[in-house]
Amino acid sequence: MKKTHTLAGLVLGTALLGAGLTSAFAADETLRSLAEKNGIYIGAILNSQWFGGGLPGNYEQIHKQQFNIVVAENEMKFDATEPQEGRFNYGNGDKMVKYAKQNGMRVRGHALAWHSQVPGWVEQKYGKNKKELLRVLKNHINNVVGHWKGQVDEWDVVNEAISNNEPQWRGFSVWYQGIGPEFIDSAFVWAHAADPKAELCYNDYNLEQGINPKAKAGFLLEQVKRWVKNGIPIHCVGSQTHVEDTTTDKHFIGSPDSLRSLAKELAKLNVKLKITELDIGFKSGINVSKSDLERQGQTFRQYLDIILEEPNADTYLIWGVSDKWSWLGGLNRQKGLIYDDNLKPKPAFDSIMVRLQTFEPPKDTAKKDTIVKDTTKKDTTVKDTTKKDTTVKDTTKKDTTDAIARIASRATVSAYVAGRTLFVTGLGSKTTAKVDLFDLQGRPVFSTQCENATVDLKNVPEGLYVVRISAGSTKTVQRLSIK
Ligand code: G3I
Repeated sequence: MKKTHTLAGLVLGTALLGAGLTSAFAADETLRSLAEKNGIYIGAILNSQWFGGGLPGNYEQIHKQQFNIVVAENEMKFDATEPQEGRFNYGNGDKMVKYAKQNGMRVRGHALAWHSQVPGWVEQKYGKNKKELLRVLKNHINNVVGHWKGQVDEWDVVNEAISNNEPQWRGFSVWYQGIGPEFIDSAFVWAHAADPKAELCYNDYNLEQGINPKAKAGFLLEQVKRWVKNGIPIHCVGSQTHVEDTTTDKHFIGSPDSLRSLAKELAKLNVKLKITELDIGFKSGINVSKSDLERQGQTFRQYLDIILEEPNADTYLIWGVSDKWSWLGGLNRQKGLIYDDNLKPKPAFDSIMVRLQTFEPPKDTAKKDTIVKDTTKKDTTVKDTTKKDTTVKDTTKKDTTDAIARIASRATVSAYVAGRTLFVTGLGSKTTAKVDLFDLQGRPVFSTQCENATVDLKNVPEGLYVVRISAGSTKTVQRLSIK
């Protein structure tokens, strides 16, 4: 008998969790399939290299397999869609919308009114001319939102209008300088008129730094209260969430808890919170260790917890797929995404995957319907994106041994623990498989290649775990309790 992987250690009692068995995960679960089970959207940008055809084939393969929402990194911005006055360019946006519809994905539009990436003609011809700037912005929104009416499900109507210092409006903006902050109210009303069914967001960064009045999110909350009170059709706030790993940025004062407090305040206003541009980078040039990457995975999971647990949160969008193609270099950061330079999943991928697999929504928290009634004349109900109630009823009455037999016979590959050994069943003639063990927080406990379908577990403390067995193209994930 081939040497099994022996590790010194504890005696193991064994049982597969009853609930675990009834909700044992089908082989080949993906971020997308689990997001859909939990009624949320998980996505990533289609970066500019994708539009240019400059990416390896597996980038798109991963993207459509793992994600159910998409946004263009640059191709739907003002400078891309109206490079010359009145001359609209929808080619790249159409390409992305077609890809999204072919792959059953939700589409984010980014971004209609922003101080950056505004084509030169706007300022050169109309800078500081309020009447003309209003006409230009309204025309842009009518044409762009109108072109993709019913195809783009949500828009960043206004992006980054709040300053970082001493929160107030961002002064350096052709729209703010020429029109004043009321350009925001108008932009939302025009976008809503152009597509009453689209969800309309205000999007910004550094919103994870607290909601006290001196923080950006605190200032924003006051504006959202006013917009909602005045019947401005705002349905969501997008938190870009470009954060740095806490140990390398001593000045970073943000946290998942702070962002969660914003979500809770927005829920009182019946406005959603979406994470729209997540990356968790490390300072460029430093050596990033395995434990750094595992800590990064924990932070990714903490932000995902907000989306899973807060009733008015539904979107977890990452600003890139692979570290190889990321804007972060421009911010003197690196390795902020969930796939590495070779498009291999990082610990962060495992961490959010396991979190999705182990999340059990509390019974009565089916995602609340957060439609903001528009107080303008027409009924402008935004379509209901309430999350489906995903509570899995545990129907296992019988002894888990019986349940093990049922699952083992049904799943192609399965696992159970008896005595000191993890047994992998369903491998057929193969006797080897990759075994990854995680704690319920998605932290890797250990990973090994099992021989003759067994792994001799020892030095694993008592507790609940998730085991992932990968055999060829088959993957199965199960929970197990080690006593
Ligand atoms: O398309 C031109 C190309 O023709 C030219 O050869 C090349 C070299 O100058 O530049 C290309 O344009 C670049 C564009 O990305 C497309 O790749 C711009 O220079 C570059 O500035 C632009 O950067 C984008 C940045 O927004 C602009 O502000 C990043 O890719 C994009 O990731 C980033 O995304 C923003 C969000 O929209 C808003 N939130 C922050 C986030 C990160 O900055």
